[in-house]
Amino acid sequence: MKGIILAGGLGSRLFPLTKITNKHLLPVFDRPMIYYPMQQLVDSGIREIMLVTGGTFAGHFLNLLENGNEFGMKHLHYAFQKGEGGIADALKLAEDFVEDQRCVVILGDNIFQNSIAPAVERYRQQKDGARILIKEVPDPERFGVAELRDGRVAGIEEKPAAPKSNFAVTGVYMYDSHVWEIVKTLKPSKRNELEITDVNNAYIARGNLCYDVVEGWWTDAGTFESLQRANQLVSEGMRRDDD
Ligand code: G1P
Repeated sequence: MKGIILAGGLGSRLFPLTKITNKHLLPVFDRPMIYYPMQQLVDSGIREIMLVTGGTFAGHFLNLLENGNEFGMKHLHYAFQKGEGGIADALKLAEDFVEDQRCVVILGDNIFQNSIAPAVERYRQQKDGARILIKEVPDPERFGVAELRDGRVAGIEEKPAAPKSNFAVTGVYMYDSHVWEIVKTLKPSKRNELEITDVNNAYIARGNLCYDVVEGWWTDAGTFESLQRANQLVSEGMRRDDD
């Protein structure tokens, strides 16, 4: 199983902080944001990881992460995404790296209270298909929203005005090698990006998408409000650990 961290984008929702570095290098409590998703993959037993980034500050990742050995990785690979093609477009760059293995994809601005390792382990046991992590939130319209029916995900809508549930699709996606055929069929969305939600809906159409509900808190950190929330949640967690 290989790991992919998606850390591209302009970070325009965090301007002007992102005028001087990449969003995923901004601090969340005592470390750069990117450390959290990286640690999640390493703790799940994934030691071959590709980081996909882009933009003016892509080099900052090399300065910070170097070859990844310090974090317990065997190899840290880098890919550069040109332009603003979206999450699924960034994923395409990892095809040759993943080869015929399965992969765990994590968005660089997603932070979880608990380890995702048990879900990754369930995916290791899963015969094929995809697996996502969902979480009930008070503001589902900010996310991809999963409609649940008969214990399965019946469909996902990207940032719907009228969400069909409170279950947000978090930024962890586990895929088998069919993902590479699927990404080639995607068409740009209204925001002119290739959407990860369309990849997941393609797996739903094949009847092959499983899910876990996240226990503990989960947050993204891509807006001022969520970045502030991430700082608060992480620092509270650290304080509790010290008690
Ligand atoms: C992306 C996905 C969305 C998902 C979210 C999780 O949104 O498009 O489906 O719920 O990440 O963080 P973005 O924040 O990139 O707009």
